[in-house]
Amino acid sequence: MANTYTFPQNFYWGSATSAPQSEGTISGDGKGKSLWDGWFALEPGKFHNGIGPNKTSTFYENYRTDIDFLKKTGHNSFRPSISWSRLIPKGYGEVNPEAIIFYRDVFERLIAQGVEPIVNLYHFDMPWCLQEIGGFENRQVVEYYAQYAKTCFELFGDIVKRWFTFNEPIVPVEAGYLYQFHYPNRVDPKAACRVGYYTQLASSRAIEEYRKLGQNGKIGIVLNLTPTYARSSNRADIQAAEIADVFFNKAFLDPAVKGVFPDELVKILAKHNVLPEYTADELAVIKENTVDFLGVNYYQPRRVKARENLPNPEAPFFPEYYFDTYDMPGKVMNPHRGWEIYPKGIYDLAINIRDNYGNIEWMISENGMGVEGEEKFIVDGVVQDDYRIEFYENHLAYLHQAIEEGSFCIGYHVWTFIDCWSWTNAYKNRYGLVALDLKTQQKTIKKSGHWFKKVSEQNGF
Ligand code: BG6
Repeated sequence: MANTYTFPQNFYWGSATSAPQSEGTISGDGKGKSLWDGWFALEPGKFHNGIGPNKTSTFYENYRTDIDFLKKTGHNSFRPSISWSRLIPKGYGEVNPEAIIFYRDVFERLIAQGVEPIVNLYHFDMPWCLQEIGGFENRQVVEYYAQYAKTCFELFGDIVKRWFTFNEPIVPVEAGYLYQFHYPNRVDPKAACRVGYYTQLASSRAIEEYRKLGQNGKIGIVLNLTPTYARSSNRADIQAAEIADVFFNKAFLDPAVKGVFPDELVKILAKHNVLPEYTADELAVIKENTVDFLGVNYYQPRRVKARENLPNPEAPFFPEYYFDTYDMPGKVMNPHRGWEIYPKGIYDLAINIRDNYGNIEWMISENGMGVEGEEKFIVDGVVQDDYRIEFYENHLAYLHQAIEEGSFCIGYHVWTFIDCWSWTNAYKNRYGLVALDLKTQQKTIKKSGHWFKKVSEQNGF
């Protein structure tokens, strides 16, 4: 049967994962501790069912057979990340030889199978030794990160031709320094702004190092963009949405693509006395080292309205000083995860990139549907995840429309490959194309995994 939706030639079909969520650790692997290992040792009770980062999906041990599953689920590309603390256990200095062998073998095997590795350098996983000296609050850590990035390019840049500097850089900022769901769990708006600024600078420094080496590849950043919708066309509602958009989208999107921070953001941070210190040289590095392409993670939109009550001027500064979250009646929900499902959001963000960001090359680097208690959908040993297939089809239809209208989208990666550990949620929400039975460690392709293979082979559906 002919496709209703056919995607551009050489479209990337695949999935994303991250080192801390998939590798696990075994004795003798030489890995240093990351923020997740350090935090889990301090507060295991914060993790769902007390399951920590050491128990992730065993990719380090089983990558050879796991890579076969990539083929069986139709991947022509895959986004793993390198663990900074595995490669450079202290965060700077000595490189772990076991890690070099491991990553090199992973990338070579992927390529041999026709799966292009698109490699991310940082997925929320600051080496613990560097977190102890402040992580990205500390200017020196920016340089350690740039050195780490350079080491990766030198070691693997001959075979890896697409890189991402960071995954969702805003998440450690908001989760670690405002809303308290990542270590160090502080409420410190000034530190949040500093960490955000130094993270952007670190990304730009990595791009600078990449370009100095003259490798013939591309480098970008993965941002979680949340299209922001106002409750109504009322001026105060619109303004609330504009400010939320500045904080949660433009704060990284503008410097990454245009090389400058949005004026509105700078004004607001200065007004609330949380603008980080910066130098003209640093701003020049950011200006000169913008991305070649973008990865966009899209799960759900953001809906906002004008504030119902005046904010307390004495309280710590939060972006919500300027807006309230709007709980729109009748929105479609994923009842298994509690997030809104809004497929048209993918079209809106594609058109925004086309019209306001120079139609830069980009890809969906994560899209997916988390389901708690997914075992209940197993029939004859296979997860019958028709809800997930429907979710993907609805999003892909809108993505296709945006591409038809000229958006330069080059691929679609789902979250994720094999069900994986997810930070403090551990194994609560399942997203994989492949199910993982935690008791037996058996891996079984879900209905969506078989569907994905067909879509990839037909380059559409
Ligand atoms: C994405 C992250 O935003 O959400 C992933 O990049 C994460 O690392 C995924 O696992 C799912 O999150 P959750 O909370 O539903 O398990």
